[in-house]
Amino acid sequence: MNPFLQQAPIPGVKNIIAVGSGKGGVGKSTVAVNLAMALYKKGLKVGILDADIYGPSVPRLLGAASAKPDVGEDQKIQPVLRYGLKTMSLGYLVEEGTAAVWRGPMLFKAMDQFFRDVKWGELDYLIVDLPPGTGDVVLTLAQKVPVTGAIVVCTPQNVALADAKKAMDMFERTNVRVLGVVENMAYLAGENGARVQLFPKGDLDAYLDVKKIKKLAQIAFFPEVGMSGEAGVPILESHSGDELAEVFVGLAQRLTELI
Ligand SMILES: Nc1ncnc2c1ncn2[C@@H]1O[C@H](COP(=O)(O)OP(=O)(O)O)[C@@H](O)[C@H]1O
Ligand SMILES: [Mg+2]
Repeated sequence: MNPFLQQAPIPGVKNIIAVGSGKGGVGKSTVAVNLAMALYKKGLKVGILDADIYGPSVPRLLGAASAKPDVGEDQKIQPVLRYGLKTMSLGYLVEEGTAAVWRGPMLFKAMDQFFRDVKWGELDYLIVDLPPGTGDVVLTLAQKVPVTGAIVVCTPQNVALADAKKAMDMFERTNVRVLGVVENMAYLAGENGARVQLFPKGDLDAYLDVKKIKKLAQIAFFPEVGMSGEAGVPILESHSGDELAEVFVGLAQRLTELI
């Protein structure tokens, strides 16, 4: 049986956007959260699903680490509302560290619950924060719901690019349209407009050129981003109007234009 036959839309949800990469620590969750916030600030209805079951970080990034979602009599789960976003994460449901062994059928079931048993309601965008790698979660996502498109987050150096290529390849093979790449931590802004290269510059631009893949945003390294993550207040909330927030506003703008 074709596994993609299981695919069914989530009622009320217009667009499902996956945020992935091959590599961990490149800023997927940061991009996913701030992109979601930027879309929300445009007046759209936005949800964020933390599908990083191995290391859920959306609750922490949104200062909701101790939140517990309400479960109704119908066993449907109410998303946790945070800064205007409807959010769901395994981090709300299980103790930290217990999810890492999930594989195969368990994973399928968990993902199914995320899509079918959570009361997402009406959403213009559901942003899905994926775990690193190209494994079960990506495949499950593509099999279960119609994904509008994927954004791949990458840092400049070639080791990250190698993993990002695998992620893009995986999306292609599962018929998920790659909307474009976000280059994160591209440089550190120095004095007088100087740009300090944090990672050796790799072949990302050349690769995107050849593959005709768009670069949707280039994000510098901002110490404030790390701090905002620790504090659980997204940049769009704490630094609205500043250069670093505008980068995410631009990303949200480009995304809505593509769709
Ligand atoms: N543009 C940036 N500037 C500064 N720090 C960043 C930036 N993007 C991400 N980070 C930091 O890098 C770390 C990894 O980011 P995270 O979003 O958790 O990555 P991933 O989800 O890919 O594992 C976090 O501590 C985060 O605050
Ligand atoms: Mg993450």
